[in-house]
Amino acid sequence: MSRTSHNMLDLIRHLPKEIEEAIEFDIPDPWQERPDIIVFSGMGGSGISGDLTKILLESTHVPVVVHKDYGIPSCVTPHSWVFVTSYSGNTEEAISSFEDAIKIGSKIVVITSGGTLKKLAMKNNVPVISVPSGFPPRAALGYLFIPVVNFLKRGGLLSEDIDLVKLVMFLKSQSKALEEMDSIAHDLAEKFYLRIPVLYASRRYFPVVERWRTQINENSKAFAHTSALPEMNHNEITGLLNPDGVIEGFWAIFFQFPDDHPRIKLRIKETIDLVSGSVMGVSLFVPKGTNILENIFYTILVGDYVSYFLAINYNQDPISIPRIDELKRRLSK
Ligand code: F6R
Repeated sequence: MSRTSHNMLDLIRHLPKEIEEAIEFDIPDPWQERPDIIVFSGMGGSGISGDLTKILLESTHVPVVVHKDYGIPSCVTPHSWVFVTSYSGNTEEAISSFEDAIKIGSKIVVITSGGTLKKLAMKNNVPVISVPSGFPPRAALGYLFIPVVNFLKRGGLLSEDIDLVKLVMFLKSQSKALEEMDSIAHDLAEKFYLRIPVLYASRRYFPVVERWRTQINENSKAFAHTSALPEMNHNEITGLLNPDGVIEGFWAIFFQFPDDHPRIKLRIKETIDLVSGSVMGVSLFVPKGTNILENIFYTILVGDYVSYFLAINYNQDPISIPRIDELKRRLSK
């Protein structure tokens, strides 16, 4: 894919190929010593890759923290592994995390296409995973995420069984159908149009609906809300009533993953039953795929297409993010 391509539809189509390319990226050798804690630091389209890695690390015995802020969590030590991800390399929160992790003497890996972060990493002899430049960060998810998975596999923190090649084949087999006019992606973009999408998933898979929200925010220039089960069953479920004129404009979508806890599946069923009279409509999304990684990336791919088609419905340019750019410009003064 050309570096200067600025067509979001092409970038979304490119995800399987991007993962395929990223499998081959050079990665540094992991440290011998197991970490006391793993931290993923990064914002927005870069930060989501840490959230997704955390899902895969759910069964390891090492605590995992995703940090989307300045500085570094106070539990970080010289024995911690800190992954600092910033696609541009110029995001001030990520740079601040890097600087604090250097002060502590943690084991750091930087994932970036360049910028200040790359310079700082080289100056401090910190290993860098270099990714191709010229993409909107949110369209570089494969580049940012896959090398970290490979690094953790090599470091013995993730299972060798994670089959990235099979993931690529699976996504390639799904991608085209999602563009058809009768696809689930078109259908949901119609349902979300002029309504507020409210997206629900289990706590474990919450990052996946966060990806949907942020893609709807950035690509479609539209508002969306997310919340996790079971927690929303203890509060938000009662709030889905007023102001009634507003709630009636919500389209709720519940994401049910094959390995969600059976009680979560029951909660989704009963919650749909209880709230469906208050909102405009409810959908149940069950991802395709034969394993967790395929479920996650199938859902992400559908969401990326939904956000693209919704952008078209709203007559918005899915690439440009003028408010984010303007805010960064003002803060850099
Ligand atoms: C833009 C995007 C944003 C950026 C975020 C952090 O496509 O997705 O959310 O990812 O502003 O910037 P980077 O990724 O350069 O650290």
